[in-house]
Amino acid sequence: MMDLLIKGGILPDGTQADIAIAGDRIVAVEAEITAQASRIIDATGKLVTTPFVDAHFHMDATLSYGRPRVNASGTLLEGIGLWAELKSLQTKDDIVARAMDYCRQAIGKGVLAIRTHVDVTDQSFQTVSALLEVRDRLRDVLDLQLVAFPQDGWYRAQGAEAAVIRALDAGVDVVGGIPHFERTMADGTASVRRACELAADRGLMVDLHCDESDDPLSRHIETLAAETIRHGLEGRTAGSHLTSMHSMDNYYVAKLLPLIAEAQVAAIPNPLINITLQGRMDSYPKRRGMTRVPELLAAGVTVAFGQDCVRDPWYPLGSGDMLEVAHMGLHVALMTSPDQMKEAFRMVTETPAAIMGLDFGLQAGKRASVVILNAPDPIEAIRLRADRLAVVSNGKVVAETKPATTTLLAAPLQLRSSEVPAPTHARKSIEPD
Ligand code: FE2
Repeated sequence: MMDLLIKGGILPDGTQADIAIAGDRIVAVEAEITAQASRIIDATGKLVTTPFVDAHFHMDATLSYGRPRVNASGTLLEGIGLWAELKSLQTKDDIVARAMDYCRQAIGKGVLAIRTHVDVTDQSFQTVSALLEVRDRLRDVLDLQLVAFPQDGWYRAQGAEAAVIRALDAGVDVVGGIPHFERTMADGTASVRRACELAADRGLMVDLHCDESDDPLSRHIETLAAETIRHGLEGRTAGSHLTSMHSMDNYYVAKLLPLIAEAQVAAIPNPLINITLQGRMDSYPKRRGMTRVPELLAAGVTVAFGQDCVRDPWYPLGSGDMLEVAHMGLHVALMTSPDQMKEAFRMVTETPAAIMGLDFGLQAGKRASVVILNAPDPIEAIRLRADRLAVVSNGKVVAETKPATTTLLAAPLQLRSSEVPAPTHARKSIEPD
């Protein structure tokens, strides 16, 4: 007797399969499963995927848009200044309430794991204690991974290193940093070295805001890769943003990409934010600002798209929908071939899960966390930002969405009998001939 049986779904690779779940584990993924189950979901013709995962977010700032004012210039630097104003106004209860509100929205969109940076340079420490509380409250539903992030600079902000260590001691998971915001390149380099040293000493991962700049000479990713190798941290470090790479000299990038691949440093661009924060000082043509995603992928680098911000000092929009992120990402990166669009889907599901070290998968023995979408395949899911019909976390259905229906009333819009479309599940996914 199974607890849950999902019938007739289409996996991201195009195969049709039933998925049997007992407790919090997938116990079988087979073409036809006839076992009894407490609950059966008919997913015929619908895409069934591992959960959406957001490997880069700021949950202490989310849903604060307009407090105490909006970002008039639209730049990263004004956003950091605005966040400093907000930090002095908010309370721990504010942060918890906004974070919980955001998590409810994101979970409804099938996001079951989020890596959020937490500003530890808030002297009150309330950002850290608030998000530790949120992580604990949502533990059974959402994997919330916290990064000790010295927003105002490892060396630029007084006491930042001590605050990072205090946060790690309190249970924060990952070492963060922001080398391009230090006062000098030398301080930035030193901060990368120190972050990697601390992570190696404690057996932790590293995720740096790295080179979030249009300055082609912002090259802290080089130091991150070298320090990763020096400390044996391969596969455990990530460079978020890496936007300066967009503007770097091609010859230098030809040397840099193999170094990043050798060090197994993951790249986490954030397309919605990179396309709006970067290029602000350009006239025309304006740079796109997102890092070189297809080239990183071709070099063998692990690349995931992150959300980064939703209605906060840096970004007025966003909805916690990783399909929106993938949609923007593939546009900005010109990744419009069928294979590239499927890759963009993996970049908001499997790949960020791997970066965060999560045990998601559509095989027997994996955690029973899956999402059923109102689309037949990953490309259609991205195109339509398809409804998440059901979200299953650790074997339990935690969210359901009924698709909205539109009724067309004008006479010329009525279907003739010869125009009735084939059912969605009978359509073939788009493949090159
Ligand atoms: Fe960020």
